[in-house]
Amino acid sequence: MPELTLVDGSGARRDFPAKLTWQVIVCTVIAACGGLMFGYDIGISGGVTGMDMFLEKFFPEVYVKKHQTKANNYCKFNSQLLQLFTSSLYLAAIVGCFIGSICCKKRGRKPTMQIASLFFLVGAILNAAALNIGMLIAGRLCLGAGIGFGNQAVPLFISEIAPARYRGGLNLCFQLLITIGILTANVVNYATSKLHPYGWRISLGGAACPALLLLLGSVMIVETPASLIERGKNEEGLYTLKKIRGVDNVDKEYEEISQAVEFSRQIRHPFKNLLKRSSRPQLVCGALIQIFQQFTGISVVMLYAPVLFQTMGLGENASLMSALMTNTVKPIGTLFAIVVVDRFGRRALLIEAAIQMFISLGAIGVILAVHLHSTNVVAKHYAVLVIVLVCVFLAGFAWSWGPLGWLIPSEIFPIEIRSAGFSVAVIMNFVFTFLVAQTFLTMLCHLRAGTFFLYCAMLAVMCLFAIYFLPETKGIPIDEMVERVWKQHWFWKRCYKDHDTGKGGLEIQDKPKENTIA
Ligand code: BGC
Repeated sequence: MPELTLVDGSGARRDFPAKLTWQVIVCTVIAACGGLMFGYDIGISGGVTGMDMFLEKFFPEVYVKKHQTKANNYCKFNSQLLQLFTSSLYLAAIVGCFIGSICCKKRGRKPTMQIASLFFLVGAILNAAALNIGMLIAGRLCLGAGIGFGNQAVPLFISEIAPARYRGGLNLCFQLLITIGILTANVVNYATSKLHPYGWRISLGGAACPALLLLLGSVMIVETPASLIERGKNEEGLYTLKKIRGVDNVDKEYEEISQAVEFSRQIRHPFKNLLKRSSRPQLVCGALIQIFQQFTGISVVMLYAPVLFQTMGLGENASLMSALMTNTVKPIGTLFAIVVVDRFGRRALLIEAAIQMFISLGAIGVILAVHLHSTNVVAKHYAVLVIVLVCVFLAGFAWSWGPLGWLIPSEIFPIEIRSAGFSVAVIMNFVFTFLVAQTFLTMLCHLRAGTFFLYCAMLAVMCLFAIYFLPETKGIPIDEMVERVWKQHWFWKRCYKDHDTGKGGLEIQDKPKENTIA
């Protein structure tokens, strides 16, 4: 494997010797099982809420409405309770992510992932055994806590163990497993929808599989060197760094992490420091990229794809089948991104995909506006065209705003605020997924096809954001971002002007603690 050769801000060449070791690859794949949990849940809830036997048992009103032939196409699934079932998970995930960020900093990335898998396991069991809506929601809350802990720890973990040159591709494995999770869930739903009356229990209980994979696999993985050094375990940190880099000469990288950690020890309140001017560039970009990820309209397409297809007059089976087809596109798109993200960079992918998604979503909106009226069924060839456009949309998402929504926030924060900053970005994902999930059916009912045009407008804004405000982070070592990225950016460099003291205006302890770094 080639050694990494880097050039620092002063133009001098710097070498961080590193190989892409099996250790890193295996740890990445195991950790990415956190994505499998997240994806499985997204796919399962979308499918289960379209199943008659599930609706009949827990949401009888929706069931009755769905089968009224005269029910309005845009409104037949509109139920606050049904939306709450889907989105209650995100409320728990918000709390889980906040606590997870503290756990990540104080206990490490690895235990945080283990807690995530335990929560998810309990949630899966509760859901599979649900006798009433209370148990169902309690299960969703546990699943949500698991996702909160997991989505906080996994991307950070991968970004910290990856050598800079391969960080993008490795981190994208998280999204790859999200999409594989969704696809698996679709296959499971397709099979269980035929098993009356308990198919849905198998679907929901299946969530235990990815949780077990993460739980058992996590016994084998290392803790990240940065987290070990951050918690005073310097020798173990150095040992782990040598092991995962596959070379003995890791002094420069170790020194760099140690310096970052030394400074981070003087930070009193990571969350308070996030509000400082010098944290603003990362905070704004990290949070916005996750908000924008949701404003692509992805959750609309994902969570309710089967519902959307049924709204267009495809039967229950046909719509599950087409959701299956469209979801095969996403892993392929993300695989493509894994190959190119460290070559073309992050921004090129974001900009290209925003345009592609704008066009496809706009076209879906036009077809629905023209051809789908309150109670008719759309002609089959238009329904097929919508499926093709959904595929184009999903491919764009899968190589851009989807994976990069997790990658970029996990690599831009300096270590002293990394865990706290990343948690804010992840919480934004949950808040906005919740808002979109909670409002989409109502929006579809009232705005009808206009819903899609609203997301088109957002895509235009996002494209401009990526062009003007998002710096390129490809290949830059994670602990050098402030110097080499933010302080060089035409807009964001203003946040460092007045206090270029090395502290960057951060609030530090009056009396710095004894330096405990070896
Ligand atoms: C997003 C989810 C989305 C999924 C689709 C994730 O990155 O956060 O909201 O449903 O990708 O693949």
